[in-house]
Amino acid sequence: MIEGTAFLELLERQRAGWTLEQPFYLDEDIFAFERDRWMSRQWMLMAHIAELPAKGSHIVRDLFNESIVIARAGDDDVRAYFNVCTHRGSRLCKADGRAPLLVCPYHAWSFKLTGELQSRADVPDGIDPADLGLHPVSVHLVEGLIFCALPSDALPDPAPAFDVLGPALRQHGIKRARIAARKSYPTNANWKLVLENAFECYHCRNAHPEYTNVNGHVQVTGMRDAAKAETWADEIAHWQKTITGADGFDMKHRDPGSLDRLSYSVTRHPIGRGRATLSRDGAPVSKLMGAFADYDGGETQFRFGRLSFASAANDHVTLVQIQPRSAQQTDMVLTWLVDADADPALDVEPIQWMWDVTTVQDKRIIEDNAAGIRSRAYRPGPYTALEGETATFVQSYRAEMHALVCDDAGVGG
Ligand code: FES
Ligand SMILES: [Fe+2]
Repeated sequence: MIEGTAFLELLERQRAGWTLEQPFYLDEDIFAFERDRWMSRQWMLMAHIAELPAKGSHIVRDLFNESIVIARAGDDDVRAYFNVCTHRGSRLCKADGRAPLLVCPYHAWSFKLTGELQSRADVPDGIDPADLGLHPVSVHLVEGLIFCALPSDALPDPAPAFDVLGPALRQHGIKRARIAARKSYPTNANWKLVLENAFECYHCRNAHPEYTNVNGHVQVTGMRDAAKAETWADEIAHWQKTITGADGFDMKHRDPGSLDRLSYSVTRHPIGRGRATLSRDGAPVSKLMGAFADYDGGETQFRFGRLSFASAANDHVTLVQIQPRSAQQTDMVLTWLVDADADPALDVEPIQWMWDVTTVQDKRIIEDNAAGIRSRAYRPGPYTALEGETATFVQSYRAEMHALVCDDAGVGG
């Protein structure tokens, strides 16, 4: 573990509006601190309820380098546990499955879906079997999305954020969706580089020709051109007139969050140029979802906490999980949702196309970024006007780390 005073000094000499010094992107000790102190306060999107179709369904996932089991114990009752048997510590579940009890492969101790030890016959006298229940992981189920967090007294209450996000999630019919596809993009880079990249579109025109072609907003987020900005503003104004309040246009909320408050945002804009959805040519790719009676050509972007995102078009939704693995490894996991009643023979390629091609490109540019940062020549560089949100993210990271280090050292933050 990095020594507190040294870490404090390092944090305090970072310049606002500049990228971080090399250790923040490379150092395993800093990553260990982030994992133990910062990630333990983060809610992470882990699954969609369609992955747990019936009582007894369970899935094995990784949450901040801990294997966890998420189980459906009833209709709206989703539980999660550390994947650790309370007998001698064996892994409990190896793979996704369905069973009325969770049975350890080692000595066959069995646990109820609600976590209590079921097989009590072998528990030695004088030991209360009630003390041998599975170790719970925090779960928040909202509109079919399953968020998990490592148990901690310092975990923010997710309810206020999801009260705000609920109408937009319902508008998009996320609860009654099914999974069309999932793909993981293991990326050799620190998780902060992945987020720094996600929060700016300065790189879009250069790195993402397909994304730039599809998404009208790049005229503003990807370049500084007054005439183009005006054209885009006109297009938004025109689009706003064509949609109704029921389409949820007024869903524009954000909370920057803090260590104690879940950070979130939801915003909505037209895809642009008359496109109905986020496909190659803008034409529909699946059945309309949720409350949409017709295509309005909008995209809703969600951010849940610091590490989970969604992009929702009228006929499909892309969920994004950013999973830190080590100081120099991060997984980006994308899951594409369609309506539960969408054609079972649906071709998923056109649905995946835009975010897949874009994420493959992002993986490459983020890995190039990480490779350069490993050089002895690397020095922090300045964020530009089109990287404001990235600078804001780095700023909140520094503030939160600072508070955590001061907290450890027992000094005021
Ligand atoms: S370690 Fe699980 S039953 Fe023995
Ligand atoms: Fe990108």
